[in-house]
Amino acid sequence: MPEKKTPIIIGSDHAAYDLKEKVKAFLIGRGIDVEDAGCHNENSVDYPDFGIKVASMVSAGKFERGILLCGTGIGMSMVANKFPHVRAALCTDLFSSIMSKRHNNSNILVLGARVVGDILAMEIVKVWLETPFEGGRHQRRLDKFDRIDTTITD
Ligand code: RB5
Repeated sequence: MPEKKTPIIIGSDHAAYDLKEKVKAFLIGRGIDVEDAGCHNENSVDYPDFGIKVASMVSAGKFERGILLCGTGIGMSMVANKFPHVRAALCTDLFSSIMSKRHNNSNILVLGARVVGDILAMEIVKVWLETPFEGGRHQRRLDKFDRIDTTITD
């Protein structure tokens, strides 16, 4: 199956600004259009502001997929997964990245710049781009996400 070339929206906080720039260049080098939601330098910012920008666009269907980065990736994944239809996967290894596409059809890849080195990060992005969703029983399971009742009862 040929690799998808649909645009990607990317965002980070200051802790991952440098890695974001590298991932952005990597994507552009592969012929993928990139929308950069910031941040735009290493000045301290609040990661939710950028997680919200990216996740809201994916949630609304304005972008099919996104990439978020912060120091650990934890904060960004927490923010992103609050949005309907967002399936954000924090990946620190290649197997998780591959499986997040095959089984979970992740639409936001999350990276922790203080956790993974640049070379591993780029490999995680590469396999995430190249791996297709398997569908079938996995789609049935994802469909259940939309029917989750989060009402708190006592
Ligand atoms: C910023 O210091 C750091 O807290 C942030 O990048 C991220 O790791 C949060 O989850």
